[in-house]
Amino acid sequence: MNTIIEPFKIKTVEPIYFTTRDERAHILRQAHYNPFLIKARDVIIDLLTDSGTSAMSSEQWAGVMRGDESYAGSDSFFRFEEVVKQITGMPFIIPTHQGRASEKILFTIVGGIGKYVLSNTLFDTTRANVEFSGAEGVDFRCTEGMDPALDAPFKGNLDISALQSFIVDKGIADSSMVMLTVTNNSGGGQPVSMRNIREVSALCKQYQIPLFIDASRFAENAYFIKLREAGYETKSILEIAQEMFSHTDGCIMSAKKDAFANIGGFIGIRDEQLAEKCKNLLIMTEGFLTYGGLAGRDLEAIAIGLREVMEEDYLTYRIRSIKYIGDKLDVFGIPYIKPTGGHAVYLDAKRFMDHIPVCQYPGQALSNALYLEGGIRGVEIGSVMFGKYAIDGSLIPPSMELVRLAIPRRVYTQSHIDYVAEVIVEVYKKRREFNGYQIIFESPSLRHFTARFDPV
Ligand code: F0G
Repeated sequence: MNTIIEPFKIKTVEPIYFTTRDERAHILRQAHYNPFLIKARDVIIDLLTDSGTSAMSSEQWAGVMRGDESYAGSDSFFRFEEVVKQITGMPFIIPTHQGRASEKILFTIVGGIGKYVLSNTLFDTTRANVEFSGAEGVDFRCTEGMDPALDAPFKGNLDISALQSFIVDKGIADSSMVMLTVTNNSGGGQPVSMRNIREVSALCKQYQIPLFIDASRFAENAYFIKLREAGYETKSILEIAQEMFSHTDGCIMSAKKDAFANIGGFIGIRDEQLAEKCKNLLIMTEGFLTYGGLAGRDLEAIAIGLREVMEEDYLTYRIRSIKYIGDKLDVFGIPYIKPTGGHAVYLDAKRFMDHIPVCQYPGQALSNALYLEGGIRGVEIGSVMFGKYAIDGSLIPPSMELVRLAIPRRVYTQSHIDYVAEVIVEVYKKRREFNGYQIIFESPSLRHFTARFDPV
């Protein structure tokens, strides 16, 4: 059979509240044309993020009831630790309340002024935590990853020769860590190949720089390796994941993604001394060693979710359902980052809204148009999020203007996705009717969350 059906049936439902176009025009105005400021109940299909938005399984909910809330030595922690150790092979597992808590702990220890954290692409909170420590984050995205229209299997890879030149140029003592983000979220949800992981690992060993993985979407990455890389066709997702981690010295994970959990994260470490330092900071900032910043029931949900995410029927459905949107957009020649990645479709707003200059934020315009037309909430990943100002006040834009439509795991059905595609097509057909925006209020950092706009 060709139809890929959702590998689950629905036991509990949440209502979606419908709005009219006129109501949405009003809501958008009230929200100062910033979708972050729209109330969730005013959104029909919420594709703001795939983080913490998963539907948990009946097994996970059963685990929630089983959660052991003991302060120290909770059963739930040991079940969590066992799964994480099995997947990552790391001897020291430190639970945290979410990905950025892991980042804060890790970079407080390994970061600092004069240090570098080198990456294929750091996620924004990762970069923020690196920079907060005084260190500098530098990305070495492979050349294929820079071209949105290019269809290539592993556009999330790190550019090894650029990394090596940088290390040689700066001197190895300053380079504190390499962090590979799998899949590469800010680079379009694109996977990193096992070959790339192996080669980065060899380079890191040569220069004695620790290699960590940001494993937030490790299972989606492992599935792409199985699909696209020779030699992995018959391996299980667990085996592929184990090999990915075997090349590294540690990992951080936001369990809000590939663990189907609504909250949670962890750090996995091979080196005992580094683990001890992280544990000290954990106790000070997050909680005791056997719960981090979590309840026992959260650890239980993560432990079960980590097993479920490696089921191939699920991953087949997951990756195919994202590609399904891409295929529908292809019929109309709608520009997006090709191929579709693991967790989201990234519309290429610069080409989609090619009548709106970059200084009038085409990504914001597209994002707002999707809300207005169909109540769909995505997120601008372009000049609003990453733009900087030159001395003369003009905008220094990032290389791409994107709108990310991230698909929550196990939440929406095929008819929801058909609707999303229909809305995108509708907006594309009348794209010239949509205007650009100017910013009328912004905060000094991470401005996209609270900025206010006016139509131009
Ligand atoms: N690393 C990656 C690759 C991420 O995508 C995220 C979060 C984090 C770390 C931080 O984890 O949210 O648990 O603190 N990404 C979300 C997103 C917010 O929408 O892509 P967190």
